[in-house]
Amino acid sequence: MSKPALFEPIRVGPLYLTNRIVIAPMCQYSAESGCMNEWHLIHLGHLAISGAALLTIEATAVLPEGRITWADVGLWNDETEAALGRVLEGIRRWSDIPIGIQLNHAGRKASTEVPWAGGKQFAPNEPHGWQTVAPSPVPYSPNEIAPVALDRYQLREIREAFVAAAIRAGQLGLDLVQLHCAHGYLLHQFLSPLSNRRDDEYGGSLQNRIRYPLEVFEAVRDAFRGKSVSVRVSGTDWVEGGWDVEQTCTFAEMLEARGCHAIHISSGGLHPAQKIPVGPSYQVPLARAVKSAVRMPVVTVGLITSFEQAEAIIATGEADMVALARTIVYDPRWPWHAAAELGAQVRAPKQYLRTEPRRHHDLFEAE
Ligand SMILES: Cc1cc2nc3c(=O)[nH]c(=O)nc-3n(C[C@H](O)[C@H](O)[C@H](O)COP(=O)(O)O)c2cc1C
Repeated sequence: MSKPALFEPIRVGPLYLTNRIVIAPMCQYSAESGCMNEWHLIHLGHLAISGAALLTIEATAVLPEGRITWADVGLWNDETEAALGRVLEGIRRWSDIPIGIQLNHAGRKASTEVPWAGGKQFAPNEPHGWQTVAPSPVPYSPNEIAPVALDRYQLREIREAFVAAAIRAGQLGLDLVQLHCAHGYLLHQFLSPLSNRRDDEYGGSLQNRIRYPLEVFEAVRDAFRGKSVSVRVSGTDWVEGGWDVEQTCTFAEMLEARGCHAIHISSGGLHPAQKIPVGPSYQVPLARAVKSAVRMPVVTVGLITSFEQAEAIIATGEADMVALARTIVYDPRWPWHAAAELGAQVRAPKQYLRTEPRRHHDLFEAE
């Protein structure tokens, strides 16, 4: 019997992945001054032994004011780097799962309360607040404080912050950097005509709106040279007149021409008027459209929960990999169950080899 498509290996640039299951980035809002702690070791540690092929660390701010909330993880100084290093050391001692990190600047969606405390925007004069920045002084929603439009000097500073974080990621031995251009954060704010109202070379035409994200991508790629770089993008704003799948395809082609190794297609997050047709595989058509425009691996995500569903997405060529967030927190052994159900093998830690289920006595490959 041939191997299920979900368990075929794949290359993402120089990185070899043993199967097609990726753990999507998930903010934990539990850092202290940008520093990871024991929670992150528990959270990332348990996902590291799930059998997935790649673990992606949550949206990590490249500057303090680029955090979504005051409790976001950061990678902007020696302290944040050391804290992340300690968590990685703990994971690496016991697991060889490749680990990527999503680098982010939240732009106008920064300076907010953690979601479980309501998630509201803080004013700059509140204890956990600061002045936000964006391509244009357009707030996310009309009742929020407007961001300050970035000038050329600040654009350079933020690009350099992405570079510095990518260098730190390289020093920490991370396997992949993912540039966050999705969910309405700063780089997405440049892409979308709804948030980018600039009249300089960074606004207006598609070519101009794409310019800054491409500049940041090129700088990060050079700083992380020799290793894998991917981009996560919203395939559409789900708002009339906003960023859409055709523009996403053009952006993807330009990224590929500049050496991007994979593109991860999510959606939405830019505008409160979005109308998202949420349902199983709801973002897969966006990935399929991008796949017809590029040759680099395309990752799909969003309400992929069943093993047959994931297998069909890969086997029919709609996407090259599936990413899981809620699904894998709900069932951290989802890749084991998928392998058992589809008749594949999965890598398990040696400490767990004796725990192989009796019904599936050929399930494990040792790590
Ligand atoms: C708790 C939580 C935190 C998330 N944090 C991030 C993040 O840091 N970066 C990001 O790009 N997406 C983030 N997302 C979105 C997920 O990566 C994913 O795209 C989304 O949840 C859909 O996948 P799912 O249906 O498997 O949950 C988060 C989602 C959840 C549930």
